[in-house]
Amino acid sequence: MSEKLRVAVVGAGRWAQRAHIPGWQRDPRVEVVALADTDPAALASAGEKFGVRKLETDYRALLNDPSIDVIDVATGNQAHYEISAAALAADKHVLCEKPVHHDYRETRALSELAKSKGLKTKLGFTFRYAPAVQYAKHLIDSGFVGQPYMFNGYEQNSQWIDPATPMRQVDPDADPDVIATSSIEGYGAPVIDIMHWWSGAELQSVVGTMRNFVPERMVRATGQMQRLNIDDGDMWIGEFANGMLASIQSSYVTVGNFPGIEARVYGSEGAIIVRLVDEFGICQTIKTATRNEVEFVEREIPPEFFPAGGSSQEDWDFLFYSCLCADFATEILSGDAANQGDFAQGALVQETINAYERSFRTRSWVDLPLDAA
Ligand SMILES: NC(=O)c1ccc[n+]([C@@H]2O[C@H](COP(=O)([O-])OP(=O)(O)OC[C@H]3O[C@@H](n4cnc5c(N)ncnc54)[C@H](O)[C@@H]3O)[C@@H](O)[C@H]2O)c1
Repeated sequence: MSEKLRVAVVGAGRWAQRAHIPGWQRDPRVEVVALADTDPAALASAGEKFGVRKLETDYRALLNDPSIDVIDVATGNQAHYEISAAALAADKHVLCEKPVHHDYRETRALSELAKSKGLKTKLGFTFRYAPAVQYAKHLIDSGFVGQPYMFNGYEQNSQWIDPATPMRQVDPDADPDVIATSSIEGYGAPVIDIMHWWSGAELQSVVGTMRNFVPERMVRATGQMQRLNIDDGDMWIGEFANGMLASIQSSYVTVGNFPGIEARVYGSEGAIIVRLVDEFGICQTIKTATRNEVEFVEREIPPEFFPAGGSSQEDWDFLFYSCLCADFATEILSGDAANQGDFAQGALVQETINAYERSFRTRSWVDLPLDAA
């Protein structure tokens, strides 16, 4: 490997430009050496904006370049699996936006392929890398909460509370009589990731429900209002092997600002509440209480959880994603076994979403792992 970690970003659209490319470029150990996008105009403007000279309309042109260490997949969802699989086959470390594949078994197979080749993978679980969430995990591991009793995770904001806000990625063949997963898959995933990670135990069984609150919406592709029977709000509960109970609530019609994450853990010794909500110029807070001092007080997040010069006044997407990129760079450059939020974790989160959906469709508790059922 050359001195710097050399990264190629595939998909140079909105999220790549807000989070991935600036996130990598913040780290002095990393160089973004190439961009690929099927849209030449998007490619050219991203190349100009971020000073990247190697620009390709076909990502496959990057795979045989031995100087590229990491392929970062930031395309729309349809291309995630194909590009990740091709990059691993070409011996590249891979960062991919979620989901890698709607079938968790395909994602798990890629995780196993990567491990067999000594390659590292990472999912775009942006919020796990928020300094407040990492600090909370540090407190949990230090025994601050004692035995965890309850976890509550929320991802909710009101970006589609107005039916006139155009919606993308709508399945034109969907049966309007059957509610389709939407919020839980697109927005619930990050808090499901944090739930698993903080619990330190296996999820055993889940139950829950989904609801369509706003029946008709504007569809971006047609510019027309249309009946869309989609989950725009849902609630779930789960039982963990260590006795912990958990709840997850996700919605994009619940009043509040981006990104709208809240994660709470209550244990035998203490409790932690992390909020990742952009409010009044601050993008994250952490509050804690103990069994003897029950009033929650805000804690300062220690500087070691931030990139150099970083602060909670930065844009949340830039701050959290630059933490993700720095963590992946450390994992690859260190050469040790550490690899948090990898494709195996992505498969577990997708399996959990699939279990939730099965619970809703059968109106019953569903046990994990699903393969065993
Ligand atoms: N983790 C997070 O918090 C988070 C937040 C926002 C978006 N996302 C995810 O990021 C991804 C990109 O979202 P976006 O809003 O930037 O979409 P976008 O449509 O703005 O950008 C996607 C880009 O990928 C390009 N593309 C599509 N197929 C390609 C292929 N085969 N090869 C090369 N380029 C290809 C498109 O031309 C487009 O420029 C999505 O999967 C989205 O779900 C994640």
